[in-house]
Amino acid sequence: MLSTQAQIRLCSTKQVTRLSQAVVPLVHSGLGYNAGLKTGFVSIYQHGSTRSFSTTPERRLKHFFPAQETENIRQTPPAWEHHGFTEQEMLDIVPAHRPVETWGDWAAWKVMRVCRWGMDFCTGMKSEQQVDKRDPTTAISTIKPLTEEQWLVRFLFLESIAGVPGMVAGMLRHLHSMRRLKRDNGWIETLLEESYNERMHLMTFMTMAEPGWFMKLMILGAQGVYFNSMFISYLISPKITHRFVGYLEEEAVHTYTMAIKQIDEGHLPRWTDPKFEIPEIAAKYWHMPVGKRTMKDLLLYIRADEACHRGVNHTLSNLNQKEDPNPFVSVYKSEREPPKPASKPQGYERAEVI
Ligand SMILES: [Fe+2]
Ligand SMILES: [Fe+2]
Repeated sequence: MLSTQAQIRLCSTKQVTRLSQAVVPLVHSGLGYNAGLKTGFVSIYQHGSTRSFSTTPERRLKHFFPAQETENIRQTPPAWEHHGFTEQEMLDIVPAHRPVETWGDWAAWKVMRVCRWGMDFCTGMKSEQQVDKRDPTTAISTIKPLTEEQWLVRFLFLESIAGVPGMVAGMLRHLHSMRRLKRDNGWIETLLEESYNERMHLMTFMTMAEPGWFMKLMILGAQGVYFNSMFISYLISPKITHRFVGYLEEEAVHTYTMAIKQIDEGHLPRWTDPKFEIPEIAAKYWHMPVGKRTMKDLLLYIRADEACHRGVNHTLSNLNQKEDPNPFVSVYKSEREPPKPASKPQGYERAEVI
């Protein structure tokens, strides 16, 4: 098992994570960090051009993964355009929890508790930074806020695994449909789009913080374990797996709600600094209006995405996995609108949508 001490040693000697594009202007303007080294997964730049723990050339700080310049292609837009949210839809999102009803729910919930413990541990959260454990996905008050670095590590780790289940489920349903010569009824596209959307979250945060080798190693290990677990789990019980993903998305909504709250309370000054810029990839993907491109705005969009995933997966878990169509892409006989997953934290019951 990894100890906190091991994390500190590994991270401080070889440059584990750095804040890049969005933070560099603050450093050079003198508004940035003067603390030198902080322990954990993120190391900090000092004033001026000295980068105490960087092994990455200066030119790479602008973009960790710049778009490839080619002779003929000007731009490659996202394959799945984001459907957008109104401001009110985003503000209405709240952390919520679907109560455990079946033994399958119980199993999914317990596994999620272990994952959350791992996430808190990896983020280096102290007890005073944690919420009331009796209400882990809805309580958002803490004695002490997290730092920007802790949040970025949390976002990166969360998003690096969040894109796995949709891809696994979509892939298995795709193969099942071809193998059994059966219709899929619209599930595959929603699942793959969810996975794509999660990867866009990851790309956004990776433009802001470059994981170091230690964190990359953890992401690699986590993906290996998580992909195979999801694969086996989905083969055994897609119903329980969708419930598990619903609980995972509850955690995501909770995480982003806490971060937004701490921004509102003024605990994350680097993200409220007027000079702070969100990554261009994010502004383009979410079609964020000019003047509405703060870190809080970005987190509102991402949280709304997570709320959609939460509603979709809890709903899919409630359906007949073999026969039922995907209600979120269906056209109803009564001309009613398709259900809106973001506004239904506990998901729709089968009778409501089928
Ligand atoms: Fe996400
Ligand atoms: Fe999500």
